[in-house]
Amino acid sequence: MRITIAGTGYVGLVTGVALAEIGHEVICYDIDDEKVNRLKEGISPIYEPGIDQLLVKNQLNNRLSFSSDCSEVYSTPDIIMIAVGTPEKEDGSANLSYVYQVAKDISKYLNTQQAIVVTKSTVPVGTNRKVKQWIEEEIDFHSKIHIVSNPEFLREGSALYDTFHGDRIVIGSEDEEAATKMEELYSPLNIPIIHTDIESAEMIKYASNAFLATKISFINEIANICEKVGANIEDVSKGIGMDQRIGSKFLQAGIGYGGSCFPKDTKALVQLAGDVKHRFHLLEAVINVNNNQPLLLLKKARNYVGSFKDVKVAVLGLAFKPNTDDIRESAALVVLKHLLNEGAQVNVYDPIAIANARKVLGNTVTYYETIEAAIKDTEIVFIVTEWKQVKEFPLRNYLDLMKTPIVIDGRNCYEVKEAAALNMTYSSIGRES
Ligand code: UGA
Repeated sequence: MRITIAGTGYVGLVTGVALAEIGHEVICYDIDDEKVNRLKEGISPIYEPGIDQLLVKNQLNNRLSFSSDCSEVYSTPDIIMIAVGTPEKEDGSANLSYVYQVAKDISKYLNTQQAIVVTKSTVPVGTNRKVKQWIEEEIDFHSKIHIVSNPEFLREGSALYDTFHGDRIVIGSEDEEAATKMEELYSPLNIPIIHTDIESAEMIKYASNAFLATKISFINEIANICEKVGANIEDVSKGIGMDQRIGSKFLQAGIGYGGSCFPKDTKALVQLAGDVKHRFHLLEAVINVNNNQPLLLLKKARNYVGSFKDVKVAVLGLAFKPNTDDIRESAALVVLKHLLNEGAQVNVYDPIAIANARKVLGNTVTYYETIEAAIKDTEIVFIVTEWKQVKEFPLRNYLDLMKTPIVIDGRNCYEVKEAAALNMTYSSIGRES
């Protein structure tokens, strides 16, 4: 099939590459000329394992191309997918202006009697119907628009794997022909497909992210209690996760969830509920717990040093999770903001996110590409992202390199027993110090 994908961000690019790989003819559109030119040269704007190779391969076999010319991309495709960003507005709701722009462009350039327009972007319930309306009210000849809500569930860092091996594909549509065409599109993937109405598909996306965020805040609260009653959160997570009704995933206690999705989508769902006069108390609590979790880490550190004024600190990890260079809504940024406000001198380490961090943090911190250099002569280390490099870094080295070895581990990268044997100050989440 001939597919046009609007937006070459995480979702759009990964989807485009994956659909080309399974045999479709894909053209990815972006307004950013420079980005399009780099993509044509095979350079991915995102860090994602496996993407570079498939980007080059599928361009060479002419199944994948890139364009910043909307008159070309929207004229006669079989399917148009909208995968542009829906950033958070100040009130927490989703900003749909990029989606709106795509709808306007489609109505201007579409040149077929009917078209399937698929929304992949995370959009509030009701948006797909608006997209259809936005296109139909502008189009100047009779064209039938079949709208399909087809949310994605891919994780940064394993986005290609998730696209090829997802747990389910959700197709929300009212038109049987369009739904069948979508099924054909994905048939080489062999992933279970669930058909729903449009609103349910839109809600599945928000409810999935909200549920996962709830699991994280829940386990973080349990961890906070474990610390006080002498229980061990890792044993507790394992013990509850073995119940198949609960499941073992997303029960890793830590400094809280970040990234471009959970914080934004949880707030948007609270907002959406509010719009229909329903107060989503549970999700509000999930968000509050998450906002508070990095502050608890700072509180732990203050127990040892009193104040951060002029204290030499290292923060290990800037990305919101390992295997990505994405620092959006990263817990590291919250920790850094407080440390800097309180007058600490901060060194930071991250294996790949430094370039992105520089754009936000500028010269307020000192950047290091090795853990050794970042922690040398510091008084406190905060572990914020559980990078493999951090987990494999010997605990003994903190003793040898730091001025006073106080390690505040927000991701439980080390064993409490090991730290105790080394006689160092080590504090983690949900475990005895
Ligand atoms: C998330 C979802 O997992 C995807 O299914 C979804 O498609 C995506 O959002 C999206 O809406 O586009 P992602 O943001 O890439 O994917 O990251 P996750 O791997 O889900 O991690 C999110 C945050 O939760 C990270 O900060 C991570 O450190 C934290 N986390 C995760 C925990 O603190 N504990 C856990 O047990 C799991």
